[in-house]
This record gives sequence, structure tokens and C-alpha cells, in this order.
Amino acid sequence: MWTSVRLLLLSALLTGKTVAERCPQICLCDGIKHQVMCLNKNLTKVPINIPQVTQRLDLRGNEIKVISAGTFLPIPYLTHMKLQRCKVESIEEGAFRGLGRLVYLNLASNNIAFIYQESLDGLSSLRQLILENNSIEEIKPGAFSQLGFLTFLNLARNSLVYLPDMVFQGLQLIKWIDLSHNSLNVLANEAFGGLSTLRKLSLDHNELQFLPNEALSRLSGTAQLDLGNNPITYIGEEAIEMASLKQLFLNNMALQEVSHRAFVKSPLLHTLDLHNNQLSVLQPQTEMAHLKKIDLTGNPVLCTCEMRPFKEWAAKARIHADVVCAGPAAVRGEHLESLRATDMKCRSHALGEELLPSLATVTREPEKDAVRCPQGCTCSPDSQHANCVRRNLQSIPKGFPSNTQLLDLRHNEFHSVPQDSFPGLRNLTSLHLQNCKIAKLQPGAFQDLKNLVYLYLSNNNIDSVDADVFKGPAQLAYLYLDHNGFNQISKSSFTLLPNLFALHLQHNSISQLTDNDLAGLEKLRWLYLTGNRITHMSPKALGHAKLLEKLHLDENHLQEVPTKSLRGLPTLSELKLSKNPIKHIGDGAFLPVARSLQHLYLDDMGLEQISSGAFTGLGPQIRSLYLEKNKVRSLPNLHSFTALEVISLSDVPFSCDCQLLPLRKWLDKLNLRVGATCGSPAEVRGQKVKLVTIFQSCPGWNTKKTKRTSSTKAKAKAGRSSSKKRQQQAGNIRVKKSRKSRSRKSKLLKMRFSINRGRKA
Ligand SMILES: *[C@@H]1O[C@H](CO)[C@@H](O)[C@H](O)[C@H]1NC(C)=O
Ligand SMILES: *[C@@H]1O[C@H](CO)[C@@H](O)[C@H](O)[C@H]1NC(C)=O
Ligand SMILES: *[C@@H]1O[C@H](CO)[C@@H](O)[C@H](O)[C@H]1NC(C)=O
Repeated sequence: MWTSVRLLLLSALLTGKTVAERCPQICLCDGIKHQVMCLNKNLTKVPINIPQVTQRLDLRGNEIKVISAGTFLPIPYLTHMKLQRCKVESIEEGAFRGLGRLVYLNLASNNIAFIYQESLDGLSSLRQLILENNSIEEIKPGAFSQLGFLTFLNLARNSLVYLPDMVFQGLQLIKWIDLSHNSLNVLANEAFGGLSTLRKLSLDHNELQFLPNEALSRLSGTAQLDLGNNPITYIGEEAIEMASLKQLFLNNMALQEVSHRAFVKSPLLHTLDLHNNQLSVLQPQTEMAHLKKIDLTGNPVLCTCEMRPFKEWAAKARIHADVVCAGPAAVRGEHLESLRATDMKCRSHALGEELLPSLATVTREPEKDAVRCPQGCTCSPDSQHANCVRRNLQSIPKGFPSNTQLLDLRHNEFHSVPQDSFPGLRNLTSLHLQNCKIAKLQPGAFQDLKNLVYLYLSNNNIDSVDADVFKGPAQLAYLYLDHNGFNQISKSSFTLLPNLFALHLQHNSISQLTDNDLAGLEKLRWLYLTGNRITHMSPKALGHAKLLEKLHLDENHLQEVPTKSLRGLPTLSELKLSKNPIKHIGDGAFLPVARSLQHLYLDDMGLEQISSGAFTGLGPQIRSLYLEKNKVRSLPNLHSFTALEVISLSDVPFSCDCQLLPLRKWLDKLNLRVGATCGSPAEVRGQKVKLVTIFQSCPGWNTKKTKRTSSTKAKAKAGRSSSKKRQQQAGNIRVKKSRKSRSRKSKLLKMRFSINRGRKA
């Protein structure tokens, strides 16, 4: 008996010893569960002598600033890893290589700012990836392309402001993406391209001012969408087009109006959450056969005759509508369903003044009286929004709650914004000053707004800004100065805005752009100058904005392509020159941006001639080319444009003779809608270039069918196959390449791309 006990003890000691030998001293190892825990140890590196068989590794609360390439190669059996609160700033390319069995990776509460294309390579079995509470500002398309088994991606509480096209491509089994608590303002139309399996999308607590209809319409399989806590004020007709949508959350926004046909394109909608908005009335949402639940609590609903149609419809369609009347006084606090139609009266029924109280008095609930809020404005402690729209204010009110995040002051008459107009509002991210008859911004006007991201000054009378106007709001990313009175941009206006991302100057009277106009705007990506009077741009006008991606110069008075001004813009991808009086485009006009340009707008310019070398350098990266409404009769060779998704050639008077044969043959191979018609000769005028038989007598016509290149064949094939088949193809490609190399990866991206393109065509 004793011996056996001693033996047991001995063996326990022995195992303990072996484990200890193979366990990093500072950690705790459990050899049975194959688990290693090194919590809160100030480790600056992942310990090297972790047992090879370890399956669960818990490294929470350390100081691992950089996860270097190959770190986990010695422990290939890991299935679960926790790396929260490790002060991680960067993940080197290949950091997770070798972790082909990992299913759970938690990187929450670190300081990661960028996800690079290869940061997550190697995680081929990963199912859950938690990146919550980092400082991610940007995700490159392709970053998730390795994660074909991921079902849950958590990107909540980061600093994302926009999502580019195809950013989630490769997530073929994804079920839920959480993007809540970011600063998203813009979603590219194809941001959710390729996410056919996604069931749930969380976009709540962002800065969306408008519904991203186009982007959302790509989510044909998504059943649950959360858009709550975004500053959207209005939902128009057919605003959401999602074939499988069942639950829609639009709570805690700033909604003042919802169209009665807002959701008709989402026919399966079952639950609609509209609580805590500013709706005083809602129309019946007829045509919605599956709708069963609407929550309107927390809205200033006036149960007058205007709500009768809604009540009758809800009763008839057996919809559970949660509505508490905020007025008139006689029914305040009552549930709509408990009222009789005769209780719901309007002014004409002679009940007196109190029937239609102003929004301000209606929204003020007893508890909210405690919140300080300038007179005449409404401040919502839940959404941290303050609203003083159309209050006939002559000066900017003071005394908003210090945690206000969105301040809406549209449609007042301020004339000027004096120094320190917004004292103490350090958490303000969005400031609306549109339509306020503002002519002058004083120095230091926004000085306390350290966290301001969006500043809307559209539709005012501002004709100049001095640099010191923007002293303070150094985080400003979106500045709207469109529809004002600028004749020029005075030099150094924007030098204090190093983080500006988008500058809106469209519809002013700017006549030229000179050197240094954009000095300081080193991070500017989007510049809008549509609808000015620009006749001239100096060669260095844009020189400071080296990261520029979008340049809109349409509706100006340019007589030639400003080629010299395009130098030094290596990432320019969209150039709009529509509606400028450019008659002729010479050789090499787009050469400086030929490597990056993807979208080129040359429509409606009265263009008479395009030189044969005008498009030199442009080619496979061009995705859209707009040439409609011009006067040219033919086009230069377009054979290098192999990746077009959109080409528009309507309203161009093509001369349909043998000289146009190369274009005709090119069009034959293109499976895109083009709209090219013949302008001459007279007998074929108005007929489609693709259909006229006139070319059949031209020399060289016969080689047409045999000369198809393999790439166009592949493209046509991808276009034809059903979406299911395409997914399978995509799946095969990704399995085949899973032991990737860089070049194979980029090939994959290209193939994916053409597959997606096939779908759209
Ligand atoms: C980690 O560092 C902190 C602060 O320097 C210190 O208080 C703490 O004791 C350290 N923890 C360990 C396990 O060394
Ligand atoms: C976010 O991360 C920081 C450390 O980077 C941590 O102190 C904080 O508690 C985290 N917040 C949440 C909500 O998890
Ligand atoms: C501002 O926001 C931060 C972070 O959300 C919060 O901790 C702080 O209390 C807010 N400030 C005010 C004055 O509400």
C-alpha cells in the first residue's frame, strides 16, 4: 500500500519535473490539457521553450510590441491562442506561419493600426478572429484572402473610416462580421463583394450619414443587419435592397422620416427596430408580407389622426407595433394599440393648440431635464447627439453636454463662426453647419474640437479661409466646403490639417490651382473640385497630396488634360474630367498616372480627336472608361484594356467604315454593354456598331473567330458559369494554392477579381 502511494507520488513528481523542464519558467503549463498560460508577465517576446505539443496558449497582458515572422513555427499544434492586451503594434508578414491548426485567435485590445496583405498568412483553419479594440485605420484588400474557413471576424472598436472595394474577399464561409464602434463614413460599392455566406453584419455605432445602399445590396444572404447609432436622418424609398434580410436595427439614429416604401426591396423583413429616433409619425409599411414586429418606443410619436393609417394597418396585418404616444397631452404615455380611432384627433377636430407641440417639448422626458442643453436645442444623452436644426438661431449656442459627439446646427443664420465657438466639446466627431449663411470663419473657431473628424460647411458664403481657422481640430478627416464662394484657394489654407482625407470644394468659383494650394495635405486621398471655373492648373498644384486617390475635376473650364499636374501622384485611381471643353487629347496624356489609374471619366467634353497614343501606358488596371457624349468618330486601339468592367461609348458618332474594324472586333470579344452606335454612313446611322453588317466586307474580317485569346475565353467562361460553380472554382483555386507563394497569391487575387467581374457583367 505504502509502496504504491510512494510510487504514485514519485511518478507525479517525475511528471511534474519533466513538465517543468519543458515549460518556460515564468509560465504555467498543464501537460494534460496541453495548455500553457503566461498571463501578465511583461514578456516582450513569445517564450521560446514552449512544449511543442501545446494546443492552447494564453499570453494575455504582456508587452509583445511586434509579432515577428516565424514566431510560432516551433509550436505547430496550437488550436487556440489569446494575445489580448499585449501592446502589439505590428504583425510582420508571415507572423502566424505554421499555425495551420489554429481555430481561434484573439488579438483584442492591442495597438494594431494596419492589417497588411500577408499579416494573416498561414491561418488556413482559423474560424474566429478577434481584432476588437485596436487602432486599425486601414485594411488592404486581400488581407483576409487566406482565411477561407473563418466564420466570425470581429473588427469592432477600431478606427476604420472607410472600407475599400473587395476588402473581405476570400472569406468564403464567413457568417458574421462585426464592424461596430468604428468611424465608418464611406463604404465603397463593392466593399462587401464576395460575401455570399454572411448572415449577420454589425455596422452600429459608426458615422454613416447616409445608408450605404449600394454596398449593402451585395449582401444577398444576410439576414441580420445592425445600423443603430449612426447619424442617419432619413430613409428614402427602396433604401435597403437585401433579399434575405429578416432583422433590421435602426435604433438610436437621428431619423426624422422613413418612407412608406423604404424596405420594399427587402421582402423577407420580419423585425424592424426603430427605437430612440425622432419620428413623430410613421406611414404604414404596406407590401411587407413578412413584417411582424416594429419597435417605435423612444420616438416623439404624435398619436393624432396622422397615425391612424399606421394603427389600422398594423392591426390588420397582425404586426406587433410597440408605440408609446408622446403627445397630444390627452394620450401621452398611452400605447397606440390601446387607443380608439376616435381618440386620435387632429387640429381640425378643434382640440386646441397643444395637439402639435414642437419636437423639443415632446422629446424632453423628465430624466433628460437634468442634461444641460442650450435652449431651443435637443440633446440626447443616449446617442450623444445634439440638434438645433432650423431654430432661427443668430449665433452659435453654447452649453452643450461635454460628451456630445454629433452636433447638428444646419439651417440657421450665423453669418460668422467666432473664435472658440465650441468650448469643451472634446468628444465631438461630427459638426454640421450646412446652410447657415456663414461668410467668415474666425481664427481658432474650432479650437477645442480635438477629436473632430467630420466638418460640414456646405452651402454657405465662405470665400476664403486662413490657416489659423483650423488651429485645433488636427484629427479632421472630412471637410465639406462645397457650394460656397471660393474664387481661389489661398495658399496654406489647410496646412494645419495633416490628417485630412477628403476635401470637398465642388461648386465654388475657383478659377485656377496654383503651387502650394494644397500644402500640408499629405494624407489627402479624395479631392473634389467638380463644378468650378478652373482653366489652369500649375504643374505643382497637387504636388503635396502624394496619396491622392480620387481627383474630380469635372464641370470645369479646362481645355486640355492637365498631364503635368498629374506627376507625383503614384496612387491616383480615379480621374474625372467630364464636361470640360477638351477638344483634343494628345499622346501620353495620362502617362504620369498610368500605373495606378482605374477609373477614367472623359464623357461629355465635346471631344473631337483622340491621338493614337493618348492612352499609352493605360491597360489592364483600368476598370472603367467613360467616353460617352463626345464628337470623335473613332478611337485609338483599346486592346490593352483587358480588365474593363464598364465602358461607355454611347452618343459618339462613330464612322462605321473599315477603319473602325479593329474597334468592332474588340467589341465583339467584350462581354460588356457598350452602347456604341454608328453616326455615319447615313444608311447605318443609329445602329449598333456591334450589329451592323457593314464590316463583313472589310479586309481582315474573317480572322475574327479564330483569334480569341485564351484570357478572353476564360473571362467569357467565368461570366457564363453559374454563381455556385464560380464559388466552387474559387474554392478550388484557394485549396490548390494554400501552400502559397507571393506570386501565386497575386495571381489568385487577379483570378478572383475576374471571377467577380464575370458576375457583374
Ligand atoms: C510588470 O511591470 C509592472 C510595471 O513595471 C510591475 O509593476 C509588475 O510587477 C511587473 N510584473 C511582473 C510579473 O514582472
Ligand atoms: C481597449 O484596450 C485597452 C488597451 O489597449 C484597454 O485598456 C481597454 O480596457 C480596452 N477596452 C475595452 C472596451 O476592451
Ligand atoms: C469622451 O470620450 C471618452 C472615451 O469614450 C470618455 O472616456 C470620456 O469620458 C468622454 N468625455 C466626456 C467629457 O464625456
